[in-house]
Amino acid sequence: MLDEEIKEVDLLDKNKLTIDEEFISIRPKSFKDFVGQDNVCDNLSIFIQSAKTRNDGLDHILLYGPPGLGKTTIASIVSQELEVGFKAVVAPILTKASDLASILSNLEKNDVLFIDEIHRLPMNIEELLYGAMEDFKLDIIVGEGIASRSVKIDLNPFTLIGATTRSGSLSTPLRDRFGIMSRLEFYSDKYLADIIKRTSTILNVEIIDEATIELAKRSRGTPRIANRLLKRVVDFYTVNDIAGDKIEIVDINNALNALQIDSLGLDALDRKYIFYIKDNFNGGPVGVDTIATALSESRETIEDMLEPFLIQQGLVARTPRGRVLTDIAYKHIEQFNNNKKENI
Ligand SMILES: Nc1ncnc2c1ncn2[C@@H]1O[C@H](COP(=O)(O)OP(=O)(O)O)[C@@H](O)[C@H]1O
Ligand SMILES: [Mg+2]
Repeated sequence: MLDEEIKEVDLLDKNKLTIDEEFISIRPKSFKDFVGQDNVCDNLSIFIQSAKTRNDGLDHILLYGPPGLGKTTIASIVSQELEVGFKAVVAPILTKASDLASILSNLEKNDVLFIDEIHRLPMNIEELLYGAMEDFKLDIIVGEGIASRSVKIDLNPFTLIGATTRSGSLSTPLRDRFGIMSRLEFYSDKYLADIIKRTSTILNVEIIDEATIELAKRSRGTPRIANRLLKRVVDFYTVNDIAGDKIEIVDINNALNALQIDSLGLDALDRKYIFYIKDNFNGGPVGVDTIATALSESRETIEDMLEPFLIQQGLVARTPRGRVLTDIAYKHIEQFNNNKKENI
């Protein structure tokens, strides 16, 4: 998964680049290039500096928050700044004790092991991890039946970085073993604009400031979405070339309208969620499982991908009896309907 994401590159000017030439990656490689999350980055920098000065390993780190805010990026930056190796896995693929044992025993001193979606670790693996995190020892059973015996393996000290969209789903014993817990927040429009500027330079396109801000406002506070939308804007701009040699607001509007992204950055699924509660439950309250079934999405998708931004924007409230639309949601619906009329 990490590899796939690291290949998040765009060879826009295909004439200039050949396969052998260097990949252009939009993923920041140091804290210097990483925009925003100042508190998280400042603290991590101190802990890294301290570990390096003391020639010691860094404590285990838990990064949590909605998808696309930079958890994987920060994990890889931490290993680069520590100047140690980086190994990344996605939790659900670790099914056998031997999978974990082989990964852990191949780590070199103070390496970073990144486990993405750590709330999805199978229980047997999670229990094995406790000892590994605490005193860098693995206690595994080899063989079966009466021939089985317990083997202790000494490991090199390492730093585990776990990432999750739902820290609430982590068991207490696992959570307690992280010395550092950092929560990533949605980005302000200003920071997103900086990220869009940076990516546009890497993609070798020019975008005027007003257009950058407009795109930032419609990126759901999320760098991954900002970068993705910028690439789509470039596609529309390349084909339609509405406004000359730079990307302007008209290009942003043209692309985002075609992608059905509205003024707040909500997409078709977000609006389906809002209209479902409005039209069928008079604004709520309604349970999340009911919404998930109606939208043919998993509860996890609704809770992890959709709701955090809608709640942060104050459109939806979570109550003990279910989800409720707020006045802000109704105002947004009105504005959305008006814009639609104007565009017809
Ligand atoms: N602070 C940032 N500055 C610049 N780009 C960022 C930043 N955070 C994330 N990105 C970009 O957004 C994308 C998603 O980030 P990622 O670390 O994969 O998020 P997560 O692991 O939290 O889902 C990456 O391609 C990365 O390049
Ligand atoms: Mg990730």
